[in-house]
Amino acid sequence: MRANLFTLTACLLAGTASAASEKSAFKPDKDGKYWIYGEGISAAFIPYGASITDLLVKDQYGIDRDVVMGFDNATYYEVDKQHAHLGGIVGRYANRIKNSTFEIDGVEYKVKANDNPTPEYPEGLDTLHGGPDGWDWRTFSVVSYTNNSITFSLVDPDGKEGFPGEVVSYVTYTLGKMTWDFKIVAIATTKKTPIMLSNHGYWNLDGFANNETQSVLNHTFYLPYSGQRVDVDPILIPTGDIAANKKGSVNDFWSAPKQIASGFKGKEIEGNCGGGCDGYDNCWLVNKPSPIDWRADGNYVARLQSAWSGIQLDIYSDQEAFQMYSCNFQNGSMTLKKGQGLYDNEDFPRTVPKYGCLVLEVEDWIDAINHPEWHRSDKHFIEPGGDPYVVQASYRFSINSTVTPY
Ligand SMILES: *[C@@H]1O[C@H](CO)[C@@H](O)[C@H](O)[C@H]1NC(C)=O
Ligand SMILES: *[C@@H]1O[C@H](CO)[C@@H](O)[C@H](O)[C@H]1NC(C)=O
Ligand SMILES: *[C@@H]1O[C@H](CO)[C@@H](O)[C@H](O)[C@H]1NC(C)=O
Ligand SMILES: *[C@@H]1O[C@H](CO)[C@@H](O)[C@H](O)[C@H]1NC(C)=O
Ligand SMILES: *[C@@H]1O[C@H](CO)[C@@H](O)[C@H](O)[C@H]1NC(C)=O
Ligand SMILES: *[C@@H]1O[C@H](CO)[C@@H](O)[C@H](O)[C@H]1NC(C)=O
Ligand SMILES: *[C@@H]1O[C@H](CO)[C@@H](O)[C@H](O)[C@H]1NC(C)=O
Repeated sequence: MRANLFTLTACLLAGTASAASEKSAFKPDKDGKYWIYGEGISAAFIPYGASITDLLVKDQYGIDRDVVMGFDNATYYEVDKQHAHLGGIVGRYANRIKNSTFEIDGVEYKVKANDNPTPEYPEGLDTLHGGPDGWDWRTFSVVSYTNNSITFSLVDPDGKEGFPGEVVSYVTYTLGKMTWDFKIVAIATTKKTPIMLSNHGYWNLDGFANNETQSVLNHTFYLPYSGQRVDVDPILIPTGDIAANKKGSVNDFWSAPKQIASGFKGKEIEGNCGGGCDGYDNCWLVNKPSPIDWRADGNYVARLQSAWSGIQLDIYSDQEAFQMYSCNFQNGSMTLKKGQGLYDNEDFPRTVPKYGCLVLEVEDWIDAINHPEWHRSDKHFIEPGGDPYVVQASYRFSINSTVTPY
């Protein structure tokens, strides 16, 4: 019976995959990108990391802007040495795991380190985004592909990167009317294991074509439910404390929308993204009643807008935290895609400058697997026979819809 069930599942999956590849209209383009279409929006994805590579919406003048970072072709993602997790699914456990260690039912697990290397620990003091071969380095399978949606799947084997048990996951991206939605489902098939997944897209709502500034410091950001954040140490590991984002302080994006740049005016920005780092790489809490009835409540958790392009992005999600990183480590060494940026403008080379982008990640409280006192363990440890891990988000675009005074 059991063997039959597995065979049946395998056939179903294989059937869907070959059905998708047989439809001649639905094939990747010559650059290996899988395009999907909605009303007023189109986007492309690749199996590597189940990454988003392009997202096109029209700006206030009707010009197409590609608002995510990426590369011109699928092959280059595997070649690029910087590996900035560009647009991919970060997992099996997003963000940092303290000391690359966690405990399940009295057993300690050590996973591979890949962050904050020191002479004594050359691999690193902690694990970032699932380890050196995290999910955004893996090639997913395409299990379904239509004109407006694509579904990827990954089977993460038992023991990979040191994590216990096999995890089977599905990632579905869908375009609607000026919206990009994703849904990620994962189940633990053999052992209890930590799971936290998110999309790691890099955003610039001007498509790097703003001829006065290529940075996102002029973008306006708003986190209406985020009066608190996860406090971190100088290497961005949660201390266990929850910090208040006092009104008017550097991390206050709740009391009113504000330009990213205005956070940079005082000294508070120094070290705000870790030792020696000026900028943002923080995990804000989303203080809505839990569990979040996100489809019904109708309230976005984050809003980003650019007055230059007129493009506004509202993010809705079922997740209870939100990470924002302000590209503090971009240094002009990563090139733009052909459809982005300016040509023949000596002020702006065709590369991504420091603070040229924002990473926006819907997720839960980071490193909660090492903070049982937060009482979030049930969301972070997934076990066979238990509830699946689910993350859902809707990214909704509009033009000229809000005029925010600076
Ligand atoms: C947005 O506003 C600008 C400036 O007022 C205007 O020129 C443009 O036509 C508007 N675009 C849309 C799509 O509403
Ligand atoms: C693939 O993309 C990379 C980066 O965008 C670019 O440098 C390279 O020339 C492209 N290769 C081909 C064959 O188009
Ligand atoms: C880090 O983990 C190791 C086990 O792998 C343990 O021996 C050590 O005490 C831990 N260090 C800290 C600072 O928690
Ligand atoms: C895909 O959808 C777009 C936009 O809705 C439409 O213009 C296009 O004709 C569709 N393509 C196919 C093959 O159905
Ligand atoms: C920027 O572009 C706008 C619109 O194309 C143009 O009017 C303006 O003169 C340009 N500014 C600079 C500094 O090049
Ligand atoms: C950037 O924002 C400042 C206000 O903080 C404004 O004066 C300036 O015109 C903006 N520049 C662009 C290119 O949007
Ligand atoms: C820029 O960053 C990349 C990736 O971290 C690094 O390899 C390169 O050496 C840096 N370049 C400069 C000029 O700092």
